[in-house]
Amino acid sequence: MSASKQSYDPVEVTPLHPEEVARMRDEALGAIAKAADLDELKHVRIAHAGDRSPLALANREIGALPPAARADAGKRVGAARAAIAEALRARETELEEERDRRALAEEAVDVTLPWDRAPRGARHPLTTLQERMADVFVAMGFEIAEGPEVEAEWFNFDALNFEPDHPARTMQDTLFVAGASGGEDSGVLLRTHTSPVQVRALLARPLPVYVVCPGKVFRSDEPDATHSPVFHQLEGLVVDEGITMAHLRGAIDAFIAGMFGEGLATRFRPSYFPFTEPSAEVDMQCFACRGASVEPGAPPCRACKSEGWIELGGCGVVNPWVLVSAGIDPERYSGWAFGLGVERTLMFRHGAEDMRDMFEGDIRFTLPFGMEV
Ligand code: DAH
Repeated sequence: MSASKQSYDPVEVTPLHPEEVARMRDEALGAIAKAADLDELKHVRIAHAGDRSPLALANREIGALPPAARADAGKRVGAARAAIAEALRARETELEEERDRRALAEEAVDVTLPWDRAPRGARHPLTTLQERMADVFVAMGFEIAEGPEVEAEWFNFDALNFEPDHPARTMQDTLFVAGASGGEDSGVLLRTHTSPVQVRALLARPLPVYVVCPGKVFRSDEPDATHSPVFHQLEGLVVDEGITMAHLRGAIDAFIAGMFGEGLATRFRPSYFPFTEPSAEVDMQCFACRGASVEPGAPPCRACKSEGWIELGGCGVVNPWVLVSAGIDPERYSGWAFGLGVERTLMFRHGAEDMRDMFEGDIRFTLPFGMEV
């Protein structure tokens, strides 16, 4: 707005009137005094001392005054701007001190607080138990195998010799992610057991195979004391030449000795799984009462519910069809497999009564297991 070439009547240049300059100055000083923090002061500075502030714009009008009036107006505007600059400086110092005082108070660290009593996270008892179970097999020379939790229906069912119309395939038990079928096109599901890792391990590894696979499995169950839609299993698989059920019994006995101590009897009860033949449920003699609680008049046993035996899981000799699914010659190779429940083991080994305690996250449940990390 360079207007020096035009002739203005000084009376018309309103922004330069003494009262107007004083008004702009007072408005600025008021705003500065009211700024509550440095951020607000920054905006006040732009509004009242910036290039587009009323006094800066007024300053540009000085050239339009007759020479005689310029010095006077210049002094007036200059003094007002200096007063504003000074007020800004003073308020800034004040607000900075206030900010530093507040930071010192709010960010103060009480060095006398006990630093070693802050709760620190620990691994969940299911995780540590699952690892301990797998470790017993690792000590026997097994490797850890893994597979995906979102699994192809083919690995979860077909390759394991489940017929297309097997009831376990229905939505009632299985959480399908895409395309429930059982036909040519394999659907995608959340694995209902760790057994599909058997087939994956056989396809991916050179023979012989000695693996255990700990992991999460999923079923469409309502959570209650003994059910959860997500739980954990430990799968075991051996495929080698000359393997028999006797080796399975030996490995299970060694596992029980490793987890629960020496000298506990095991028993196999006939059962059925599509991927093992013959199949069995394996029980161990109760590690707590050693069977004594079944005697008449004996004190009750919480670990085995006074039955003397504890059910461990399913097992059996690998069905030749599973070996064929993985491209292995069943005439030359044979094997065995088992599946154990980790939650179940936590329940009977540690007297956990309710499965929901294992996933609800209340540390009153987990703390007694210690702070293993
Ligand atoms: N997959 C079975 C289940 O979830 C458990 C099982 C049984 C696994 C027998 C095995 C086996 O490897 O041989 O109920």
